[in-house]
Amino acid sequence: MREGTATLIRREDYVAPVFWIRTVDLCFDLEPAKTLVTSKMRLERNAGVPHGPLRLHGEELNLLRVLIDGESVSFRQEGHELIIDNVPDADFNLEIRNTCAPEKNTALSGLYTSGGGFFTQCEAEGFRRITYFLDRPDVMAVYTVTLRADKARYPMLLSNGNLLETATLDNGRHLAKWHDPFPKPSYLFALVAADLVAREQRIRTRAGKDHLLQVYVRRGDLEKTEHAMNSLIASVVWDEARFKLPLDLERFMVVGVSDFNMGAMENKGLNIFNTAALLASPAISTDADFHRIESIVAHEYFHNWTGNRVTCRDWFQLSLKEGLTVFRDQEFSQDMAATPSARAVCRIQDVRALRAMQFPEDAGSMAHAVRPDQYVEINNFYTATVYNKGAEVVRMYQTLVGREGFAKGMSLYFERHDGQAVTCDDFAQAIADANPGSPLSTRLDTFRRWYSQAGTPRLQARGAYDADARTYTLTLSQANPATPGQDGKQPQVIPVALGLLSREGRPLPLTLQGEDGGTVATERVLVLDQAEQSFVFVDVAGEPVPSLLRGFSAPVVLDDGLGDAELLVLLKHDSDAFNRWEASQRLALARILGAVRSGEPLTLDAAYLDAMRAVLRHADLDPAFKALALQLPDEAYIAEQLTEVDPQAVHAAVAAAQEQLATALQADWAWAFETHQVSAGYSPDPVQSGKRALVNLSLAMLVLNATRGGDGVWPGRAYQRIKDATNMTDRLGALSALVNAHAELADSALARFHAQFKGEALVIDKWFAMQGRAAEQDGKTFARVKQLMKHADFTLKNPNRARSLIFSLCMFNPAAFHRADAAGYVFWAEQVLALDAINPQVAGRLARVMDRWTALAEPYRGAAREAIVRVAAKPDLSNDVREIVERALA
Ligand code: PHE
Ligand code: ZN
Repeated sequence: MREGTATLIRREDYVAPVFWIRTVDLCFDLEPAKTLVTSKMRLERNAGVPHGPLRLHGEELNLLRVLIDGESVSFRQEGHELIIDNVPDADFNLEIRNTCAPEKNTALSGLYTSGGGFFTQCEAEGFRRITYFLDRPDVMAVYTVTLRADKARYPMLLSNGNLLETATLDNGRHLAKWHDPFPKPSYLFALVAADLVAREQRIRTRAGKDHLLQVYVRRGDLEKTEHAMNSLIASVVWDEARFKLPLDLERFMVVGVSDFNMGAMENKGLNIFNTAALLASPAISTDADFHRIESIVAHEYFHNWTGNRVTCRDWFQLSLKEGLTVFRDQEFSQDMAATPSARAVCRIQDVRALRAMQFPEDAGSMAHAVRPDQYVEINNFYTATVYNKGAEVVRMYQTLVGREGFAKGMSLYFERHDGQAVTCDDFAQAIADANPGSPLSTRLDTFRRWYSQAGTPRLQARGAYDADARTYTLTLSQANPATPGQDGKQPQVIPVALGLLSREGRPLPLTLQGEDGGTVATERVLVLDQAEQSFVFVDVAGEPVPSLLRGFSAPVVLDDGLGDAELLVLLKHDSDAFNRWEASQRLALARILGAVRSGEPLTLDAAYLDAMRAVLRHADLDPAFKALALQLPDEAYIAEQLTEVDPQAVHAAVAAAQEQLATALQADWAWAFETHQVSAGYSPDPVQSGKRALVNLSLAMLVLNATRGGDGVWPGRAYQRIKDATNMTDRLGALSALVNAHAELADSALARFHAQFKGEALVIDKWFAMQGRAAEQDGKTFARVKQLMKHADFTLKNPNRARSLIFSLCMFNPAAFHRADAAGYVFWAEQVLALDAINPQVAGRLARVMDRWTALAEPYRGAAREAIVRVAAKPDLSNDVREIVERALA
């Protein structure tokens, strides 16, 4: 089946297409086993490039006929290409007829079936699995699409753009014809044919235009679409207000589907969503789900401008749309959060995710630049680097030119490039040109290194106070470690937002030597663009405590050399909530790393425990912030601080810290639990969700303490809470408290929960995930996962379900996964191979779990290598998995 075409694609080899496709008229006769596709295209030679044959992409298709201007022509098929040597010099019509087999499409790329309906996923290269085409993002065409299908089974027939006509046909079939006036690349094409119902909302935007918004889901799910609809409306309003970007379509459709490889897809006018990223109700969704759905709905909507109106020239430029759109959805979420504290909570969560996912990626075998230089399989580059680090790069533009300057830059970008397929360089140029003389424009070439250099820069900061001169000299230096294929790195532009605090915690005015003393700012941004630079602050009354990289102003690892005393000042007094949280994490990290490095058991000191108690009991801090500050750092992030990682040692230290926090603060947790209950009707707003987060953390601590000999009343209270809960956040919080502590009541609680929600696939996913993520204890979690693989509800075919169990263990549960007996790695290899035969994209994701194997200590390292070698030895691996394992072994 696989043709072994593992060629390396290089960015520097980009050439413009030999032909353009200007219009395409697609006709589908939809049948699950065999769908007939007729494609009539208008082609034109690209005058700017040398003549050559017409080479169309096509995969897993059955070709029926090829006509040029109505006449049959000779053609060749080579690998995944259809080649036509003799084509007219002038414009011509090309007609192709082929079939494909949606029902057999388990890869979920191209046209596939799910829950009895038809759906498409074309990004990045799925369109070629529907019909032969120039399936590359710089070929943009105007689409007209006719869908024909059985009316009873597929009452809804949807595609991009506007509905032109519908008709009833013979044999119980019907037809719908759609036209999308905006030229688009093939990856933005979509169709849906299914038995769906829609929530509808008409809106009138600021510009005075009327639009119809629709959210399509299966019958029975309609009441779970209110949140998505509200999120969509809020997104439309926000993009108009913040960036003056209006909705350009009369009709904007969103569709949910249960089988989907990613979160969602921004097809023009017809976004398709994983139901997990769309459906929400208090009964089945947590606060985190509500928040995530809001941000994904926004993300896909924002792509309408950043991605669709201006798209990518080639897939190396993926971050042009993804980094920018993640940045936009993060800004949106912060603006929606409204209060400064809730904004900070958003920021902290984004940075936590970046450090847990992107930092390890940047240090591992798959490290690549935000704009990669090469790939074998583009699906492998929808990564945390392209998305999340890409968003941090965009945030740095805004930090360097200011919020208004950035908005101006965006306007210039659209003025220049609307309707085009462009590059990351074009974006950088537009932002810089709109802000002449700014710290970005004067350093643009250096700044561009963020796109070309992989790796997380290390930023070192050392301060020296001169009491006589009343000066404080801050010396900043940077170094970027080698990554695969990149040794000598050049300095990057690192904006360092900072403040200086007195030892008593007062903010100090920041005047640099040479500036007149008029400045009273207590926060400013220094720009480091050399390997090392010093900044001298004058009129500093006493030795300050520096608060550096406020708001995480650059995606770097900071070494500021601060000790406990200074971190405690920041934890108590920093006006920057991010750095306040960071201080809490640094205090915990120092203790955990100390224990891991020394091999001694961890004992938390009174100073730390008192500080944490003070946070928990603080009169003014937000509960949401408290919950984040009291949460220990992720094990993956801790592992990144070590040169040789023993995952069991890391876990043991974290578990010990957890238990001691639970025990030492037991009365405080009980107080927090009792005093933060929410009595008002459910709303996922920051205030309520913050309280629930703190209550759930407190309950987890209390149950943990009970199972370690503390007050034994709490497991029973948790059990009762699962029964009584009126929303999923409370219910899942109480259940996970029991499951994580391996409390005796956990099994019966899990059984009850399963029985209660057996009809709700998205909740059953949570049920599996919770057990896969449960804190490991004597191998119980691993054994449980192996058993659950045989559960009647488990299947590898549905990506959400496969992820819920397998990824939870392999990706999010290091202590259960990294076993001295190598059983975790054997399991991983089996599942990668099993998934690869079904869905290479999902298998490729799972393969990534081994990215950091070379940092493991023995016996893990040797055993991990063996498992990777075993996978690599399979002859007919997909390109997806092959690229990952070969890079891991390189
Ligand atoms: N472009 C989608 C997004 O980020 C992600 C995606 C990629 C979905 C590839 C499916 C396939 O919004
Ligand atoms: Zn996206």
